[in-house]
Amino acid sequence: EKGGWSSFMRKEISEEPDAVANTLLGRVVDGAVVLPELGALTPEVLADIDRIVIIACGTAAYAGLLGSYAIESWARVPVQVELSHEFRYRNPIITPRTLVVSISQSGETMDTLMAVRFAAESGARVLSICNTQGSSIPRESEAVIYTHAGPEVAVASTKAFVAQVTALYLLGLHLATVRGTLSPAELAHNIDELQAIPAKLADVLVASEDIGQLAGWMADTRSVLFLGRNVGYPVALEGALKLKELAYIHAEGFAAGELKHGPIALIEPGQIVFVIVPSPRDPSSLHPKVVSNIQEIRARGARVIAIAEKGDAAVLPFADEVIPIPLASPMFEPILAVVPLHIFALELATAKGLDVDQPRNLAKSVTVE
Ligand code: F6R
Repeated sequence: EKGGWSSFMRKEISEEPDAVANTLLGRVVDGAVVLPELGALTPEVLADIDRIVIIACGTAAYAGLLGSYAIESWARVPVQVELSHEFRYRNPIITPRTLVVSISQSGETMDTLMAVRFAAESGARVLSICNTQGSSIPRESEAVIYTHAGPEVAVASTKAFVAQVTALYLLGLHLATVRGTLSPAELAHNIDELQAIPAKLADVLVASEDIGQLAGWMADTRSVLFLGRNVGYPVALEGALKLKELAYIHAEGFAAGELKHGPIALIEPGQIVFVIVPSPRDPSSLHPKVVSNIQEIRARGARVIAIAEKGDAAVLPFADEVIPIPLASPMFEPILAVVPLHIFALELATAKGLDVDQPRNLAKSVTVE
């Protein structure tokens, strides 16, 4: 039930901190990741895997893309993300050392179910990340990590996304443990960061309370662009998808480095661009590069809304609005940065008088191919 909330979507966004906390519950014991549900996918099997293919659709695929950065970085195994409906039509290379990881909130998405079946028949090891107990995809997988986001009723996926990322990060840290690719100190640091996410998400919800006003003055806009880089890139894609499906506005997410390879031609005065800014503390030096992207688009008249770490003074002179997010290690920031975009899509759709729980032409689970 909706309780006192105006929509299921608003309620489910408010549950994002709990979705992460409940997905972590019981899975970190004495400072170590514990996933007994992996069953036949024993530490020996997982230590021997030489490639991971993540298959999913829509928002679940963006969670997968984010997970691919974490798993590759921590467990040093190549990870490829494929849309389920593309996967089996490309004659993919699958061996007994390939781990296919499917991600689905409903567990009933036909494209993903077919891809899981194909992977199993082709001899891959198959693990699923799913939010719905007893659904079809888990039944056809060797092992399942359930996300405990609770029932998601609104068509647009929100709390399931952060729970899927949490499950992928747990998997990444487990793989790093069995493969010996992170030091005990690095493992401990990342586990601490993951456990700190629910409280930080609660802070983000508070800091996002003014997004309704922002959405108000944008209700007539016809196009919104989203830029992100590295782990901010899947966040940009997710922000754009949410806006399309809820507010029926043309929206596109780009990797910020791609801007000068084409998309910058779209920038004209008044174009609204959300930019997911990496932490200024990020040792990879991506922060100055993204700040310079902001300067480039500002110089061409874009209205920039930056999602940036609290206290990031470098973006202030160039952004029309800054939505601050709490400090976190770079790999964990996207889980925080995505929430303002979920809220923005909700608020913009609301400002346009649209039904946020039941957008036109969409179904909660797509059970046809
Ligand atoms: C976006 C959205 C869809 C689903 C996609 C996969 O907000 O809801 O893109 O994420 O249809 O659905 P599941 O996760 O049920 O397989």
